[in-house]
Amino acid sequence: MARIVIVSNRVPIPKARVAVAGGLAVALRDLLVPGTLWFGWSGRLAADPAPQPALVEARGVTYATIDLAADAHRALYVGFANGALWPVLHFRLGLMHYRREDWLGYLAVNHTFASSLRQMLRADDTVWAHDYHLLPLGRLLRRQGFGGPLGFFLHVPFVPPSVLEAIPVARELVADLCAYDVVGFQTEEHARDFRDCAQRLLGAVVDGEWLWLNGRRLRAFADPIGIDARAFAGEAARAVHDKLVQRVADSLSGRALAIGVDRMDYSKGLPNRFEAYGRLLERHPAHRRRIHFLQICPRSREEVDAYRKLRVELDRLTGRINGRFSEFDWTPLRYSTRAAPRATLAGLYRIGRIGLVTPLRDGMNLVAKEFVAAQPDDDPGVLVLSRFAGAARELSEALIVNPFDPDAIADAMHAALTMPVEERRERQAVLKAKVFRTSAAAYCRRFMDALAAQAPRAVAA
Ligand code: F6P
Repeated sequence: MARIVIVSNRVPIPKARVAVAGGLAVALRDLLVPGTLWFGWSGRLAADPAPQPALVEARGVTYATIDLAADAHRALYVGFANGALWPVLHFRLGLMHYRREDWLGYLAVNHTFASSLRQMLRADDTVWAHDYHLLPLGRLLRRQGFGGPLGFFLHVPFVPPSVLEAIPVARELVADLCAYDVVGFQTEEHARDFRDCAQRLLGAVVDGEWLWLNGRRLRAFADPIGIDARAFAGEAARAVHDKLVQRVADSLSGRALAIGVDRMDYSKGLPNRFEAYGRLLERHPAHRRRIHFLQICPRSREEVDAYRKLRVELDRLTGRINGRFSEFDWTPLRYSTRAAPRATLAGLYRIGRIGLVTPLRDGMNLVAKEFVAAQPDDDPGVLVLSRFAGAARELSEALIVNPFDPDAIADAMHAALTMPVEERRERQAVLKAKVFRTSAAAYCRRFMDALAAQAPRAVAA
């Protein structure tokens, strides 16, 4: 069997004897078989980084990483990927800070990645690159003579041509994506937006999921990511005995728990969610003292201005809500920037009466799926879900809200708190069946099958 080579900006090198932790590592677990190579950034900055990757072997998988110089990392991560591309791909043009030098730096780091990886590639390898830090990697690998199957998956949303065109290098970015044999997206809407961009900006001919460009055929399709729901549900059931989860449960004193868990990112709609909670307490005083809202929100990307401002804004909103509604023995909003282990989160989801997942835009949002998987069947909680999260395409039995409307979120919270148990059970049964039907393994299999079916034709064309 051909070797699989995964490429991503961050590489989750496992610690000895510790199971792989969250994110991409969990999603790709089925591909982490002996022989697989995972390549990317080491997470370290160096004054004069070596071009040769450092190698770590764990359970037969080789993790190959390179250090980056501080200015290269700044241009790639802070400047272009998160300062320009991320806001555009989340429909936030006003937050885009495009600088030509960042774009050139982004290209240069992708070039470094390609050159360093190229030395390790065999002719029959299958390469699967991930996410918006690495759009040009496939084209650069091709330029360096790699002829094997090349796939790319975008974990964040994609946008229609009218939005993408705001970024001055829109054409280059779409052309870069077209250099892959298969490009995967979280939803059909994102895949269609990409195909529209390729048609409009490059003149590609679109035929269903296929695109014809310069005599080559590539596939751009939706491959929604799933979770290992059975394992997560088991983890959640066990985690109610976790000390921290028990302490939280005890501290509720019978009150309902509304829970939100997000990286601190402006795409997550946190200020609107906080405001919605304030409106719930204002418009429905009966819920006062009967609910706690716990928002777990680990700090993120604070090198970027917009992220620092968000933190200040959330501190302010927390103070305002607690100042206005707190009683001497009740604090309505608990907000923590501390990260929690996955097992603890699973336990907190399980005791949550409301799961608040209200991003303004999100590729998929696995918290929504994890909340559903974690709920008990007999007395389940209710998921309040943004219509602009990829997960809403599948989880239509959640209470679907427009996250730009704090009153709509407040209404949904009220509906969740007053929903009869029969209705909660009915919704949960359908949601659970959906979440259990999808899996991380199926996501990988679909992508690998698409790549295997597509690549020979792309070469022959
Ligand atoms: O959502 C996109 C994504 O790249 C995820 O895959 C990842 O978990 C998250 O952003 C973290 O971003 P960063 O690497 O900037 O901390």
